[in-house]
Amino acid sequence: MPLFGELKDLKRNDMIYRIHFLEFVCGQLVIHTLTRTLTSCDTLVRSSPDHEMKEDIHQYTGEDIVVEYDVNRCIHARECVRGLPDVFDPDKRPWIEPDNAAVEELMSVIMQCPTGALQFERTDTDYEEPVPEQNTVSVVPDGPLYLAGDVEITSPDETVLIRDTRVALCRCGASSNKPLCDNSHEAVEFEASGTISDGHTSHSPSERDGTLRVTPLPDGPLRVEGRFEMQGHDGGAKRCGDGATLCRCGGSNDKPSCDGTHEEIGFSSGEASE
Ligand code: SF4
Ligand code: FES
Repeated sequence: MPLFGELKDLKRNDMIYRIHFLEFVCGQLVIHTLTRTLTSCDTLVRSSPDHEMKEDIHQYTGEDIVVEYDVNRCIHARECVRGLPDVFDPDKRPWIEPDNAAVEELMSVIMQCPTGALQFERTDTDYEEPVPEQNTVSVVPDGPLYLAGDVEITSPDETVLIRDTRVALCRCGASSNKPLCDNSHEAVEFEASGTISDGHTSHSPSERDGTLRVTPLPDGPLRVEGRFEMQGHDGGAKRCGDGATLCRCGGSNDKPSCDGTHEEIGFSSGEASE
């Protein structure tokens, strides 16, 4: 039941088109939102269903802030529940109560959500989440890759699928919402260390890294273009200045890098966006 739509300039000059659906669930008004990213030159391509990422966004309105929650991007990392249990309580309905904390505190916890499932929009000021100057790729033991920074996920034909500061990407090969993580690594008992092979402590550069573009290659790895720091769970880190090719089939013997194993095991990516 589409009730209304809106066009708005949400992040870094990306035009976001939203269609809202309203329904009553257990006596409460729930807003579902479908979101498309549009730019001036290829709105038709970007609004094509072929390139649609699966989203199920719910909105929770407070006095000075609207919290958005994308069910499909949440992997229950629970940073939110640990950070502000009075606001985020999965046992209550609604499970998010924005006015149960100071708005600055709430924004700070939302920005800790590693998957980007949580976002906010201030309604009292123009303040937006700052884009980090440095890009990072954190390797989660037995889990996904957490990307933070100026991150752009594109399809091989260069359609922008996601532009965000926080994204979790599947590296076990089992997600049914590829290239995003959907927590399937737990179901398949994925085992992989969170260390990086030649880990050492690196120092942040003084200039901005710029955009980190990640392209999930069909039946192959993640092609990463741009500067970033790879961070291991053990505290090791290394600067990657010319991009990288990262495993997402789960089979590489040189994780987090791709070593070509995806071909041997016949990895099929079956992208949710394809
Ligand atoms: S921090 Fe983000 S990914 Fe983790 S439980 Fe909360 S909403 Fe989900
Ligand atoms: S994607 Fe896993 S080895 Fe290449």
